[in-house]
Amino acid sequence: MVEGKPATKPAPLSFEEVKRQVAESVKNVKVKIAVISGKGGVGKSFVSASLAVGFALRGFRTGVIDADVYGPTIPKMLGVSRPREIMVDQTVEKIVPPYGPLGIKVMSTDFLLPSEETPVIWRGPLVARLLQEFFTKVYWGELDFLVIDLPPGTGDEPLTIAQLLAPENLDGTVIVTIPSEVSKRIVRKAIEFARRLEVQILGIVENMSYFYCPKCGERYYIFGRDTGKRLAEEAGIPFLGSIPLDPRISEANDMGVPFLLKYPDSEASKAIMEIVDKLIDRFKNRLQPR
Ligand SMILES: Nc1ncnc2c1ncn2[C@@H]1O[C@H](COP(=O)(O)OP(=O)(O)OP(=O)(O)O)[C@@H](O)[C@H]1O
Ligand SMILES: [Mg+2]
Repeated sequence: MVEGKPATKPAPLSFEEVKRQVAESVKNVKVKIAVISGKGGVGKSFVSASLAVGFALRGFRTGVIDADVYGPTIPKMLGVSRPREIMVDQTVEKIVPPYGPLGIKVMSTDFLLPSEETPVIWRGPLVARLLQEFFTKVYWGELDFLVIDLPPGTGDEPLTIAQLLAPENLDGTVIVTIPSEVSKRIVRKAIEFARRLEVQILGIVENMSYFYCPKCGERYYIFGRDTGKRLAEEAGIPFLGSIPLDPRISEANDMGVPFLLKYPDSEASKAIMEIVDKLIDRFKNRLQPR
């Protein structure tokens, strides 16, 4: 590998060629999971980052893609700084993702933008081109899990990005919701999204489900109780688990310290690890025992 060589400029490619190159980039990745939500701000990036940390904690080789061009947050949550130079593996002529905690490979659209201060006011073709480069030019190598944090919502943009992988190179989606009245709509939209991608829904994660009173230790259901579980049952989708609201989560995210590593014994971490184990179990036939 030669360090410090800048990435090459992308040539315009047909959609089929892009798909072929994307398939090549992830061909040695055993399980590829996209995290989606029908609504912004529900904790999709936190769940994506935490799933990656959880898989790595269980000893699996893991990568995470932050494909949110407008609000890339995964590197911050995992404490990975933007590399000063993009590294290129000379043998495959592809970008090498920087390593985060526990050896997690982390790639963010943010790393390919000219500078951290660059406002992303790009639209249409420029964004499509950046994402094309992003998905085709990264060398993931041998991995057990690749977690993809898509942009929020279930509109054209996340759909177009997911279609670079789906259906052949995407093993499923995880839907993140919160237990409020809007969750019904979120879940319905996310189901439709997965249907259009022709990929299976691995399950629903309900985030910010309840809050423990620090004084009395009692559980408070702020937005509604067991909504996610009920919706999952109604839709015939697995329910993966509920993650409580915990102020230390946003603190840890802001500090760039993975919450699972900083507070492994917290309720939220236990809930996340249960979700991680359910997903590992789902793909156990493909994975080497750890
Ligand atoms: N269970 C939780 N308890 C407390 N804070 C949380 C929890 N989950 C996420 N957060 C915080 O909520 C905020 C939104 O989370 P996050 O960025 O993961 O959401 P998102 O769905 O990816 O948002 P966007 O739509 O902007 O991409 C962040 O500040 C995060 O630290
Ligand atoms: Mg996000």
